[in-house]
Amino acid sequence: MSEPTKFLLTEDAIPTHWINLVPDLPGEPLPPLSPRTGEPAGPDDLTPIFPMGLIAQEVSPEPEIPIPGPVRDAYRLWRPTPLYRARRLEESLGTKARIFYKYEGVSPAGSHKPNTAVPQAFYSAKAGRKRLATETGAGQWGSSLALACQVFGLECKVYMVRVSYEQKPYRRIMMETWGADVVPSPSPDTNAGRQIRDADPESPGSLGIAISEAVEDAATREDTSYSLGSVLNHVLMHQTVIGQEAQKQVALAGEDGIDVVIGCVGGGSNFGGLALPFVRDKIAGADIEILACEPAACPTLTRGPFAYDFGDTGRLTPLVPMHTLGHDFVPPGIHAGGLRYHGAAPIVSQLLLDGLIRAEAFTQTEVFEAAMTFARAEAIIPAPESSHAIKGALDAARRADESGTSQAILFNLSGHGHFDMAAYDAYLHGELEDYELPEAEIQRALRAIESLPKPAGVTA
Ligand SMILES: Cc1ncc(COP(=O)(O)O)c(C=O)c1O
Repeated sequence: MSEPTKFLLTEDAIPTHWINLVPDLPGEPLPPLSPRTGEPAGPDDLTPIFPMGLIAQEVSPEPEIPIPGPVRDAYRLWRPTPLYRARRLEESLGTKARIFYKYEGVSPAGSHKPNTAVPQAFYSAKAGRKRLATETGAGQWGSSLALACQVFGLECKVYMVRVSYEQKPYRRIMMETWGADVVPSPSPDTNAGRQIRDADPESPGSLGIAISEAVEDAATREDTSYSLGSVLNHVLMHQTVIGQEAQKQVALAGEDGIDVVIGCVGGGSNFGGLALPFVRDKIAGADIEILACEPAACPTLTRGPFAYDFGDTGRLTPLVPMHTLGHDFVPPGIHAGGLRYHGAAPIVSQLLLDGLIRAEAFTQTEVFEAAMTFARAEAIIPAPESSHAIKGALDAARRADESGTSQAILFNLSGHGHFDMAAYDAYLHGELEDYELPEAEIQRALRAIESLPKPAGVTA
């Protein structure tokens, strides 16, 4: 085993631009709609909660956006991240596939999320805001934003999905260490939270509920911006530093190209961050299979229709065109808390609709089996979210072997699982539950979007 395992770049190789895929997409993107009028959303719908610098990026027609100096400087704390060739995993599988993973768990918060938290805090500070409000599922996003607020001197309020707040006290302490104020959601601090608590005092919470709380917080305070950790165009754009670095590293590893690119999808940001630069190549003619992996307990891409829906349960956000399970869908309390979201990024949803990517759903038991195989071969203990991508990669390697081809497979290891030991414990003791999601429950949840405007020309 004397061949290289890690492919490393120096700090001067940190990308200078983010990639905006929107101008490359086939067809005109559908606009977000105002929650008040149902007409295309204008600045009035966004300026109360987002700084102008981010709104400009959200609607930008430019294929590339320069990364500001202070953001690149903060990226130096952990970027460029390593690309690994998973030689030990390949050996343990006995596969002919060459498996690579981009490891985002080396960031201070332990995942890809600081790649967008840092620019979001930067643009809010630049716009004179003093405070950021946000939601968090697994706690990865909240800790990333807490860290970014520290870097740029902002206060941070985090509404943390209650089931994760209870499962992951160490994530809360991490956020508090970086100065954030963290409450379990639904909380008594907002109208949205109080309403849900009145209707269901035992509510486990969901990302949709926590987003309502954070948006309401930001909309009712002049000094506060709202920050979203996924879904929006500008978030996916910030994450493209992952794919851009990976392309350079794959070349360093001597590969002409990659056959299969894989990421897990909650809202779509780590998947988009790795995949969008490769999607651009695919649109230009490259032959690449691009696979999005999601939980069977929250099967947004594989079972949800493409429709206009709210990003939150309280119907406060603009309506966005996306694959959705309905804004009041509350996913079962699986351990991959960061994948418990009813919708998916409009860009990712559109790519699926256009056939440029594929999606697959996995149960949590099969995902943890894949995580164990990976941890025992490669030593890194992966986040349960990222382990969906590992499961996708193991399946892809098997398919390649069965078809007699030798493929290069790249997946995003979006975070480590050091705060997920309770989930590993449940798996190791045979206590992990798989949730069948009955079609009737999906149909019930989808009733919430029946009366909303429909995307023109879409039949899916
Ligand atoms: C490690 C990790 N991976 C993936 C995700 C899913 O988010 P996204 O789809 O935006 O990458 C999360 C969300 O919290 C996460 O913590």
